[in-house]
Amino acid sequence: MNFEVIPLTASIGSEIRSSAGQIVSPQGAAKLREVLIERGIVVVRGVGLTDDEQLALSNLMGTVRDEGERGVMKITMDKSENAAAEFLKGSWLWHLDGTHDDVPIFASLLSGRVLSQVGGQTEFANTHAAYDALPDEMKARIEGLKVAHSIGVSMRRAGVEASPENEARWRMAPDKIHNLVWTHKSGRRSLVIGCHASHVVGMDREESDALLEELLAWTTQSRFVYRHEWTVGDLVIWDNTGVLHRAEPYPIDSGRMMHRTTLLGEEAFA
Ligand code: OGA
Ligand code: MN
Repeated sequence: MNFEVIPLTASIGSEIRSSAGQIVSPQGAAKLREVLIERGIVVVRGVGLTDDEQLALSNLMGTVRDEGERGVMKITMDKSENAAAEFLKGSWLWHLDGTHDDVPIFASLLSGRVLSQVGGQTEFANTHAAYDALPDEMKARIEGLKVAHSIGVSMRRAGVEASPENEARWRMAPDKIHNLVWTHKSGRRSLVIGCHASHVVGMDREESDALLEELLAWTTQSRFVYRHEWTVGDLVIWDNTGVLHRAEPYPIDSGRMMHRTTLLGEEAFA
């Protein structure tokens, strides 16, 4: 196997230098999965996977979620390509995918197909590293806290119009409560925060807002963040269980088009 693995930053991300032929294979997928879990993000620059290759790789790395066309979802603000484009504005704020599920998705593979002339880079923050680096007093303070996650809250924060139809749609997914600190089966710990995090259960509102803001600001310090500057054909994979992500805002009519495949979760929030 011809694989060069290069760290992108000290605390998050590795780049793999290889070819489509090498990575879309059982050994390649196993290697990507291993690096992904260890480093949070895997980048393969300019690899230019076709949808079939991306699907094949995804199927080798986990179980592909049934969405979009045959499992390939178009991430774009273009309404003719994605009926839910308006809600994608939520991806401009720090988040993890699937806080309203008991078992959040494990990972996503994103291929850059058409880029925006402005904005549209993607940032990732390692919530394992951020938790580990917290001062002991903060670790003690947040131990055992529970947080309510709300789609409506995240949509309003993202500036999506709170029309009666939208409000009704958001209410269809009830708030979900998760531990603020997720203790994974591996023993590793991470923070479950981001734009869906509405409030700490049972805590005074002001204190809760301040705490969630402080933890988000801590986690998204540059030392825990990798910012991906896209080139067409790049493949970026994130471990959604230990990484927050956000896209930099880009014009609605920029034509930006990413092809995403999503791997079903393998572990419930705990
Ligand atoms: C997503 C997402 C970020 C981007 O697909 O879940 O947040 O850069 N994408 O498009
Ligand atoms: Mn997302």
